[in-house]
Amino acid sequence: MKNYLLAHVCIRRYRIVSLFPNYMRQEVTFVKGDGALLWDDTGKTYLDFGSGIGVTNLGHCHPKMTNALLEQANHLWHVSNLFPIPLQIEVADMLCEYSGLGAAFFCNSGAEANEAAIKLARKWANEVKEISNPEIITFEGSFHGRTLATLTATGQNKVKTGFDPLPQGFRTTSLQNIRALKQMTNPQTAGILLELVQGEGGVQPASFAFMHDLADWCQEKDILLMVDEVQTGIGRTGEIFAFQHYGIQPDVVTVAKGLGNGFPIGAMIAKDKLKPVMGPGTHGTTFGGNPLAMAVAKAVLTEINKHGLLQEAKKKGAFLLDRLTEELANFSISEDIRGLGLMVGIKLTKPVLPIIESLLKNGLVTLPAGEKVLRLLPPLVVTFDQIEQAVSLIKAVLTSTSMKVHLG
Ligand SMILES: Cc1ncc(COP(=O)(O)O)c(C=O)c1O
Repeated sequence: MKNYLLAHVCIRRYRIVSLFPNYMRQEVTFVKGDGALLWDDTGKTYLDFGSGIGVTNLGHCHPKMTNALLEQANHLWHVSNLFPIPLQIEVADMLCEYSGLGAAFFCNSGAEANEAAIKLARKWANEVKEISNPEIITFEGSFHGRTLATLTATGQNKVKTGFDPLPQGFRTTSLQNIRALKQMTNPQTAGILLELVQGEGGVQPASFAFMHDLADWCQEKDILLMVDEVQTGIGRTGEIFAFQHYGIQPDVVTVAKGLGNGFPIGAMIAKDKLKPVMGPGTHGTTFGGNPLAMAVAKAVLTEINKHGLLQEAKKKGAFLLDRLTEELANFSISEDIRGLGLMVGIKLTKPVLPIIESLLKNGLVTLPAGEKVLRLLPPLVVTFDQIEQAVSLIKAVLTSTSMKVHLG
């Protein structure tokens, strides 16, 4: 009933009857952003601890990205990939240098980046390993996108329901369980795809021991280790890529969200040995890597390495985690507080959506991760003061929610 009312208010206010109702939208309409702040159409200010689901990692309307976009828009918006795009080479070089990988392919979203990784793994398995029906193993609770292949790879049934028939060649096992993973591996296994911190699945980091065992297993069995850094990548965890915390070297990495800081983009980066697999005509996209996206991505990758931003992000992430842990220590409603860098989750004993609505009313934008996890993804440019403000608001809202639970 409440969702219906919410949708009804939005429909009346903005006449969105001509849109598919596939998103559950909040009532607030943002019209301006700056750093970690947002303003709605009534002039009210909000602290943004969602970053458009981990996208605006360098803050809203960052002047370096805005200038790069405007400058490029005055020169050239688009040429097809049938012609060289020099900025693509610059951005690919930067991604390869930072990741230790050998080649990049550009697309427009996270799902497309994962789709490219899945195609790459299948083609490599077919042609190099001579596997006729290659399989990819993924993990329960994961999220890899909404295309048919990536939703099949996703380890959450709610994403797949109603979309049969699904593509073949995917198996799902449980995270942190190396024995189960080894048992599932067979001669058809071409790749293992995972998020190092499951985002949509509840801000769930893979353990160091599991990742090292997994990396060793992939090497031993000549299986591609494919890391989905769509949400964890581009500074979110305090390193450019989350895999850098683990001291492992994946074969394939996918990124998207933070790479454009709000400009649509995706990329797959892979080891040199995989480059020949994707020869001319094997894969492509009209818009992927166009000059506008590349100009912004170059500005993002230049900026992210400056001003000690990553080191600061690590400190801010640790501060956020510590302050939440201190303030919520005696709250029975909060079961667990976890995360990596500026990707933090509070596991609650109650559904999270009413809490997110209350926080929004109080001027704090947050996100759900599953039914009971409150997800916090502030931009890297958030200040320590803003973190304190957010912690106070969360404490206040959880206090009143806990009181309602006791009274109710
Ligand atoms: C880990 C992960 N992979 C893939 C995706 C899909 O990205 P997109 O929505 O850009 O297709 C997401 C989106 O939330 C994600 O968090």
